[in-house]
Amino acid sequence: MRAGLTITTSSGTAQVLNGRAVARVWRAWLREAIQRWRLTPTLAIIQVGSDPASTVYIRNKLRSAEAVGIRAEHICLSEGVAQDAFREVVRRSWKTYHGVIVQMPVPAHLQEALEVLLEEFPVEKDVDGFSVGNLGALAGGRVQLIPATPLGILVLMHAYGHEPAGKHIVVVGRSRIVGTPLALLFSRAYSWANGTVTLCHSRTQDLGKITRQAEIVVVAVGRPHFLRSEHVRPGAIVIDVGIHRLADGTLTGDVHPSVYNCVRAYTPVPGGVGPMTVAALLFNVYVAALWQERGIAPSEVLPELLEKECRVWREKV
Ligand code: GUN
Repeated sequence: MRAGLTITTSSGTAQVLNGRAVARVWRAWLREAIQRWRLTPTLAIIQVGSDPASTVYIRNKLRSAEAVGIRAEHICLSEGVAQDAFREVVRRSWKTYHGVIVQMPVPAHLQEALEVLLEEFPVEKDVDGFSVGNLGALAGGRVQLIPATPLGILVLMHAYGHEPAGKHIVVVGRSRIVGTPLALLFSRAYSWANGTVTLCHSRTQDLGKITRQAEIVVVAVGRPHFLRSEHVRPGAIVIDVGIHRLADGTLTGDVHPSVYNCVRAYTPVPGGVGPMTVAALLFNVYVAALWQERGIAPSEVLPELLEKECRVWREKV
């Protein structure tokens, strides 16, 4: 049996894709790589306002960054900051740090300014991978900085030996942060990708007819328990990007737990995609520093990660 956690259910045994364990191994690898290259990668996280959920995410990113040797700074702007001042802070950060993140969502009055900044964002600073330049590169088949959640999912799948090549992957949700870049990434012509991707969204008709064809289903719709057992075929692999707090205080995802009974493998919530997203962001900051300080392009780093390191990690998770 493949290494990793498994749980026994009434109708079979599903493998739990343990994002917490893989992220731990990835972060240890990253700490060593940063030391080996004698880098001090720097990261700025710009937050506007004090949304409690964003504050928790940012604290988590800052703590994880410091632990691997990334110098991270939290730049806080007031909820009512003027557009010009916001733009100025972001542009100034591009000159100072290897990686810059504008934590989303931003207040409505800054949305337009953010859209413009995402068009101007220097690709090598865009460790979120959401800029027009990086998303365009991905669409054109060139690997630069890749959005953290899609990258985290790809690494998790490789670490468990579930490579996407030749598989039918159905992505549910077409957001700029997850669904769209994930569909692009998984379908690129690289040996570590090469999937056949269908992208579904809120206007897709008869969703179940499509998701039941998938060998891998990725759900990123932001609705608790959206994907149910009638949506998946037995033996599928299910990746859950959602995280929600229910009225009783428990955390759950976009996937209904009944799905776990009929699948081959799934990501739990919490402890699946979430920790992989944070590890992938840290990896992007390292890649950005390597690019800017040593002239090593991201396209040289990614294949080694997916085709070599992930195989080694299989033994550790
Ligand atoms: N808000 C929720 N997730 C993210 C993320 O990955 N990056 C940024 N910048 N904001 C977010």
